[in-house]
Amino acid sequence: MRSDRTFTMIKPDAVANGYIGDILAAITKGGFRIAAMKYTKISKEQAEVFYEVHKERPFYGELTDFMSSGPIVAAILEKENAVADFRKLIGATNPAEAEEGTIRKQFAESMSKNAVHGSDSDENACIEGAFHFSGCEIF
Ligand code: RTP
Ligand code: MG
Repeated sequence: MRSDRTFTMIKPDAVANGYIGDILAAITKGGFRIAAMKYTKISKEQAEVFYEVHKERPFYGELTDFMSSGPIVAAILEKENAVADFRKLIGATNPAEAEEGTIRKQFAESMSKNAVHGSDSDENACIEGAFHFSGCEIF
């Protein structure tokens, strides 16, 4: 299992708020190379598959409604120790608790509209990347 890749989405709130450019700049400044990227939109059904691990959680319906509500930017990012370093760069799930300078502190609105997704393990980074990209779209 490779440990130099993670998967991210710039969520519908951050896209709607005009933060795509700022967030990509922060990702690049953070030392990540973009290996794959697309501007896309997922259906409610796709969101339910993507977030299947959270199926039993009370926020599953709200989360999948929100993630399918508008366009997103999906990307595979490359850097040594990518999963942990990216989660550090984006900050805590709740932006009110996120450290100063993190992407969520700067660009997130709330716990549910929290600007970006970051994979939580090497295994999930691989699964989530494959959900959005075929081999020939990864460089
Ligand atoms: P993400 O997967 O989006 O990178 O976020 P995360 O790992 O920091 O948080 P996770 O526990 O995986 O939750 C996924 C997303 O669900 C929403 N959420 N809402 N209302 C709530 O209590 C609650 N808890 C989580 C967030 O938008 C979170 O990013
Ligand atoms: Mg998560």
